[in-house]
Amino acid sequence: KKINLAVVGATGMVGRTFLKVLEEKNLPIENFYVFASARSAGSTLTFMGKEYTVLELTETSFKEHQIDIALFSAGGGTSLKFAPIAAESGCIVIDNSSAWRMDPNVPLVVPEVNPEAIRSHKGIIANPNCSTIQAVVALKPLNEYYGIKRIVYTTFQAVSGAGMGGWSDLEEGLKGNAPKKFPHQIANNCLPHIDVFLENGYTKEEMKMVEETRKIFDNQSLRITSTTVRVPVFNSHSESINVELNKPFEINELKDVISKGEGIIIQDDVANNVYPLAINATGHDEVFVGRIRRDESVDNGVNLWVVADNIRKGAASNAVQIAEWIIQHMM
Ligand code: A2P
Repeated sequence: KKINLAVVGATGMVGRTFLKVLEEKNLPIENFYVFASARSAGSTLTFMGKEYTVLELTETSFKEHQIDIALFSAGGGTSLKFAPIAAESGCIVIDNSSAWRMDPNVPLVVPEVNPEAIRSHKGIIANPNCSTIQAVVALKPLNEYYGIKRIVYTTFQAVSGAGMGGWSDLEEGLKGNAPKKFPHQIANNCLPHIDVFLENGYTKEEMKMVEETRKIFDNQSLRITSTTVRVPVFNSHSESINVELNKPFEINELKDVISKGEGIIIQDDVANNVYPLAINATGHDEVFVGRIRRDESVDNGVNLWVVADNIRKGAASNAVQIAEWIIQHMM
């Protein structure tokens, strides 16, 4: 069966990458639609060598065009309002915003980690936060083989994660111009501030990593803490992940366990200066893992350096993989 597929927020940073990833994957698409706000309605986008006119998203869009699957990346407000309307008309929404992730009726899915959760969807499926996606791909084999007791996340996140505005703040900042998206200059700087601050002193980005990891691993007693930092890198997030496992391990065996994980490429040859780098991860869908070493300050601890393209695996590619899974298993 061929499907009618829509991209909502098609003119944005993730939206444009949806188009690129969809071109590579060759899904069975009958009709293709691109939606954005009234601001860019009427402009055109190229998909599979054909020009598509950007349509303004309205409450009747999904019913009118009989959309089967919609990939949303148009901000939380748009998702909160339009995802239920789409679901109501029989469309399956794969939402990249944070709006629905923690809703108990919405599966939060990384296909390499918990694809079976997709089956219980009621019309909306959430794509996790970019930093969470790459972390759980890297941690899945350890969680399965040894069990995870505690995680300490520290992230080094690219400006592309803040959309077109974030990208332009770094580009303009490098020319000496003041920031518009971030509260401080990002060029030549690190901002320990992603998304808004919460009452507990953490940022929302930090708490997303904590709560989403627990939901994806289906383990509410997992102990997790997080510090998320915006760094002057255009694309691909890097993360230091400190993990305490439930069982003792032998380091070579542990490396072997990680290397057999789905969607993972190990780059760990320090004698030759080989370790994952943001500039090398960009353009790829795999999660790169290196600097794998024992944390000698605790029992059963290990440190990892994990890098992935936050716009591809951290957003667009993960959502398209979910769409592929639905088409293969549920249609
Ligand atoms: P537009 O280009 O019309 O503003 P980014 O995060 O990279 O800035 O992208 C945000 C995306 O979300 C853009 O495609 C933007 O469209 C879209 N968008 C923002 N608000 C709405 C809305 N109310 N309805 C539909 N799309 C929206």
